[in-house]
Amino acid sequence: MDATPDCHDSIRAVLWQDDHLRLLDQRLLPARERYLDCRDSGEVAQAIRDLAVRGAPAIGIAAAWGVVLAAQRDPATLDAALAQLRAARPTAVNLMWALDRMRRVIEAVRGSDGSVAGARAELPRVLAREARAIQDEDLAANRRMGELGAALIAPGSGVLTHCNTGSLATAGYGTALGVIRAGVSSGRIARVFAGETRPWLQGARLTMWELTRDGIDATLIADSAAAHLMRTGQVQWVIVGADRIAANGDTANKIGTYQLAIAARHHGVRLMVVAPSSTIDLATASGADIDIELRSGDELLGYGGTRTVVAGARAWNPVFDVTPHALIDALVSERGVVERPDVARMAALFGAR
Ligand code: MRU
Repeated sequence: MDATPDCHDSIRAVLWQDDHLRLLDQRLLPARERYLDCRDSGEVAQAIRDLAVRGAPAIGIAAAWGVVLAAQRDPATLDAALAQLRAARPTAVNLMWALDRMRRVIEAVRGSDGSVAGARAELPRVLAREARAIQDEDLAANRRMGELGAALIAPGSGVLTHCNTGSLATAGYGTALGVIRAGVSSGRIARVFAGETRPWLQGARLTMWELTRDGIDATLIADSAAAHLMRTGQVQWVIVGADRIAANGDTANKIGTYQLAIAARHHGVRLMVVAPSSTIDLATASGADIDIELRSGDELLGYGGTRTVVAGARAWNPVFDVTPHALIDALVSERGVVERPDVARMAALFGAR
């Protein structure tokens, strides 16, 4: 029943090419497969803000390469670039985690006077090495989580996923979608359902594209069909990713995850959160302390440039929510599985970094 890692895995969305960053522009999928070429860190920050690149691990990786671009252009701009990239989106801690790694490399190279002048030639090379390591480690973590998560699933199961957590959202393979890839490859997963993920349609536009591209049969549902799907017995697991997991296991993820968790518990369906250790934020005690990104109401008031709601209407658009740890059956990371996460179990696996 071993998963075959290379099966169903052909997409890469974040690519370093010679001297610049290429991002598969996720705003245009599935209609157009177009790459965005970023040649300075400001362009990378904008791509993160505008969701051309999205998904917690992917924005961390893109930001790391953004720091390399700043070093190539002018090492004197590195502090400003780090600050601009950090401010691009607030919720996914992978962004801050990756930038902290890049900052430590800069500090190690800097002279004792804090200047980078003497290290001008060396910095782009050592920073590129760190960005490459962040990207490669993420891919390896995803493959490991795929194996660990799939092993929890009984053969012949149905699963529901939310948002996009796949190759588009990571270095490749994916977190929750990595478990689904591994579970389909090993025959444990027989049915895959994906929620649309209003308002930005990560599930409908991105997950369905990714699964179809990689030969995984999947069925789209309206977000509002999830509880009914569970009631009909077609899914045994809800499998999702995460943007930030607090010290007690409370998990911020795409808006709608919380209501899926409540519906799952009600119907005896289990909830698996799949996230690398770069998503764990032990400095944040609980979900109440997580900054939830509020985006423009315009994302709800229209679609594809066409207004769909009456003029003058207002919309509230939080794009993440927090699932309390008590609703989570398994948290899968590359370090191992935490069943029914709480503060003690989280500290046991993630306490020593
Ligand atoms: O707003 P997005 O599309 O960046 O939100 C993405 C999610 O919520 C994902 O579930 C999460 O980042 C995990 S991706 C492996």
